[in-house]
Amino acid sequence: MNIRLTAIAALTIFAAACGSNEQKDDKPPFEASSAPAQAAAPSGETLYKRTCTSCHMANGEGIPNVYPPLAKSDYLSDKERAITQVIKGSSGEIVVNGNKYNNTMPPQQLNDEEIAAVLTYVYTNWENNGTAVTADEVKAARAKAQ
Ligand code: HEC
Repeated sequence: MNIRLTAIAALTIFAAACGSNEQKDDKPPFEASSAPAQAAAPSGETLYKRTCTSCHMANGEGIPNVYPPLAKSDYLSDKERAITQVIKGSSGEIVVNGNKYNNTMPPQQLNDEEIAAVLTYVYTNWENNGTAVTADEVKAARAKAQ
């Protein structure tokens, strides 16, 4: 079995290498081998579970009087403010969905792409409004926040 597969793979590579100019379809001949280079970035969901769940909980509900919710959070209506919150964190009174919180969120050590991915995950879950956050928007907010 393995030997047959190896033989087929070798033949395919041979055929692709020799015949790439004659290919009628527009698929690149080495599609499979170019994939791993892009597989590294963790998803927004993974980042959320890794970095935010401990306080905001897996379902985004937070903890009453301690950690504000991200689920149906009216605080998210201002996208730049939400991005800045993740970059810088905050300390002191904050009002979310009419409830007061007075606690500390530390700045999150994530890069622009990661903050874009994790906030897009937040915005597209738990009945939030589906806003997409891009790395460029995070970059711009970071420049202002300095
Ligand atoms: C150590 C606990 C902790 C972690 C980890 C944490 N937060 Fe927070 N977060 C808070 C607290 C506490 C507040 C309110 C801070 C205040 O009182 O000034 C808050 C506020 C917020 C707010 C604004 C209010 C709201 O509920 O909409 C957003 C948005 C937010 N966090 C997103 C995130 C995201 C996204 C992550 C993960 C990348 C994260 N937080 C990680 C504790 C945390």
